[in-house]
Amino acid sequence: MAAWIKAMESAALPADGMRRVEIEGVPILIVHSSGRIRAFTGDCPHAGAPFDQGALCEGRIVCPWHKAAFAIDDGRWLEPPALEGLLSYPVRVENNGVFVELEPKRLHKPHVTRANAGSARRLAIVGGGAAGAAAAATLLEGDFDGEVTMFAAESQAPYDRTCLSKFVPAGEMAPSDVPPILPEGVARDPRLRIDHTEVKRFDVPTKRVTLADGREFAFDTVLIASGSVARRPDVPGAGLGHVFTLRSVDDAAAILHALSPGEHAVILGDSFIGLETASALRKRGVEVTIAAPGGLPLQRPLGARVGALFREWHEANGVVFRHAKALRFEGSREVEAVALDDGATLPAKAVIAGIGVRPATHFVSGIPLDEDGGVTVDAAMRAGRGVYAVGDIARFPLNGTGATPQKIRIEHWRVAQQQARIAALNMLGEDTRYDGVPFFWTEHYDKRCDYLGHVEHWDDLAISGRPGDDRFVVLYSRLGRLRAVLACGCEHEMALLSERMREPLSTDSARAIVGL
Ligand SMILES: Cc1cc2nc3c(=O)[nH]c(=O)nc-3n(C[C@H](O)[C@H](O)[C@H](O)COP(=O)(O)OP(=O)(O)OC[C@H]3O[C@@H](n4cnc5c(N)ncnc54)[C@H](O)[C@@H]3O)c2cc1C
Ligand code: FES
Repeated sequence: MAAWIKAMESAALPADGMRRVEIEGVPILIVHSSGRIRAFTGDCPHAGAPFDQGALCEGRIVCPWHKAAFAIDDGRWLEPPALEGLLSYPVRVENNGVFVELEPKRLHKPHVTRANAGSARRLAIVGGGAAGAAAAATLLEGDFDGEVTMFAAESQAPYDRTCLSKFVPAGEMAPSDVPPILPEGVARDPRLRIDHTEVKRFDVPTKRVTLADGREFAFDTVLIASGSVARRPDVPGAGLGHVFTLRSVDDAAAILHALSPGEHAVILGDSFIGLETASALRKRGVEVTIAAPGGLPLQRPLGARVGALFREWHEANGVVFRHAKALRFEGSREVEAVALDDGATLPAKAVIAGIGVRPATHFVSGIPLDEDGGVTVDAAMRAGRGVYAVGDIARFPLNGTGATPQKIRIEHWRVAQQQARIAALNMLGEDTRYDGVPFFWTEHYDKRCDYLGHVEHWDDLAISGRPGDDRFVVLYSRLGRLRAVLACGCEHEMALLSERMREPLSTDSARAIVGL
């Protein structure tokens, strides 16, 4: 039996608060809530954030970085992007001290699966990305006694795609070090089979899957989580070497190897992928021009005022912006120059197109697809009988966007995983609905900006600071209610808001939380 080790003085632990300590090099989170003291893993199982910089709210521990949430009572996993619960440590309070035994356990009980009593035991997931991994982790979290087959076109185990525009082109993370996302226990679970073969056809009415190598299978329930395909520029020369899109780890590796410090890259598109890649390449000393017709960077999601601030931030870091469209790429085997419609011809060792994506649904048959290729689902993420769709491809009803929920597609990591968790629970016989708060993060020049909520029109914009400052906050409100918030350097406040925004929140309350 492990010894009891003093973690801290009990007077140092605030009521309804948490502290992170290290005992023999092990990070431990001591939580004091509703008169009880508990101890959990001190760092987030997703990417290692120290929990004490996050928030305790409504019975949840919320991670400061990407807002994963865990139950205070037993550490069970509630919200992605973490895909597993927390380990708990035995704790006791005596002689004014908090003592911990370094013998962790999983306190949370595996959930009891209703589907075990039914016939839906053969489950399939098409897609091994963010949503596919979250679905697999949810399906296998409990005592489900059937089989889960994941069809994944990429040869790698599911990995963290978000690193590809931030750390790989910067040379800070080797392509082979991009983190896998399935918890080890899930990856090794004998109930999961990952088949690294592309699905060529999925027939919704019969739930029949045909693979690229001709094999065919039928399933009881299928989740489509096939994500997006990056759009390629449609101009002369688009087939030359070193004209890239950025979606996969192979794309990121090719971009890294194509460019050396001092060489010129032209990035087409000024949304998140374009700007993050620009920041990463600038960190490695690559000369970067961003060409995009009209408007300001990030204008559509964040508005012109905030877009202008992002542009100034990137310009201060050496990025050149041109309001122009690419007319053609020039070169013999590999691209050497880009001709723009403003008359300029720019030297280019590589071109990276960040000009948008389309849903990867070309293989789905038997249901009408949306005009853009998306799949319309209900709030349970159901697309048809025994068929669910989640992630980048799913057009789903989002509460809080208007009087009646508006159906929208959101192309963000945590939303894909939230939806996957809902769908997976429903595949197991639960009856759950999407009621999460959309969230994304973006990183530029070593600073992470978080965005919570979703808004297309606002009547009040409050801005404090500028992107690049240690603290930068933008509140987007309509009719006195907070609709979305963008912030950098406000980890505790954003963790708190990720829970508080589950219910309507007045702009005044939001201002009080972020100190505006
Ligand atoms: C470079 C980059 C950086 C990003 N950074 C961020 C960020 O910082 N924050 C954020 O919130 N979002 C970010 N995103 C967006 C986020 O990654 C996506 O919204 C998220 O991955 C969507 O999850 P998904 O499971 O729907 O699709 P994906 O993660 O794309 O997974 C889909 C998987 O399905 C596979 N597949 C497709 N068709 C088939 C088929 N027919 N058969 C078998 N397999 C198939 C694909 O190969 C892929 O592996 C980023 C995206 C990219 C490309
Ligand atoms: S580090 Fe906790 S959610 Fe990412």
